[in-house]
Amino acid sequence: MLKISNLVKRYGHGEPVLKGLDLEVPGNSVVAIIGASGAGKSTLLRCINRLVEPTSGTIALNDIVLSDLKGRELRAARRRIGMIFQSFNLVDRLTVMENVQSGRLGYLPFWRAASRRYPKRDIRRAYELMERVGIAHYANKRADELSGGERQRVGVVRALMQEPEILLADEPTASLDPKTSEQIMELLRSLSAEFALPVLINIHNVAEARLYTDRIVGMRYGKIMFDAEPSRLDKAAMDEIYAGLPAEERGEEETPAPSLQVSAA
Ligand SMILES: Nc1ncnc2c1ncn2[C@@H]1O[C@H](COP(=O)(O)OP(=O)(O)OP(=O)(O)O)[C@@H](O)[C@H]1O
Ligand SMILES: [Mg+2]
Repeated sequence: MLKISNLVKRYGHGEPVLKGLDLEVPGNSVVAIIGASGAGKSTLLRCINRLVEPTSGTIALNDIVLSDLKGRELRAARRRIGMIFQSFNLVDRLTVMENVQSGRLGYLPFWRAASRRYPKRDIRRAYELMERVGIAHYANKRADELSGGERQRVGVVRALMQEPEILLADEPTASLDPKTSEQIMELLRSLSAEFALPVLINIHNVAEARLYTDRIVGMRYGKIMFDAEPSRLDKAAMDEIYAGLPAEERGEEETPAPSLQVSAA
């Protein structure tokens, strides 16, 4: 369970970018975070893994208060937070296996990681997870020889190798074609259920968010304007989240047809 209370983030002396957010996300629940560019979605995810220092408020993951941790304790807690990126963040010239094993870096003594002598247990686990997401046959291929969807699967396996207690994904499908996007969203949803993981996904594509998540959080100017199941995201709610923005910048051309929502059930 992720529990965020009264989170404030101010960069420099300007107006806060996050203005007192409260959010609870239990395990095996997939939450989409939507909102216009600049709403604070990435800042929120970065505060959770402490790439960005919160100005005030608390963030707790399974009763460990992340926002209080420093030094060694912070590094240990960060291992438990799996990150998935829009641009995949793989090392191109390394193999899929080597990229995936970098998820274990925080756990291994330096000499093992540097010499790429991974423990047998980690190799076995990597194969299980690669099998699970359909990339085991690419284990020895270089990362830059894979398609976007395959690269994102490598990113997902690397995150799972951390034995995470939460997955944070910042626009994980924004660089992928529509069909591949849907496959990755479906994968994240099924992994959330399988590993009882809370999953937070920043996403621009509202139609995808509706189809593949249990809950939508709508942000505007650093505040949560909407927090409910996708079927409740009606036109009035969309207007509140995206007030003043034209339809093409709202992440959907128009409200999806009811049939789309039914197929998600
Ligand atoms: N390191 C930083 N220093 C100063 N201001 C920042 C920094 N990072 C983000 N901001 C500002 O904080 C606000 C929120 O940015 P953030 O990246 O969280 O938005 P976002 O909702 O993820 O937007 P997008 O949809 O474009 O990714 C923006 O006004 C941005 O300019
Ligand atoms: Mg962002």
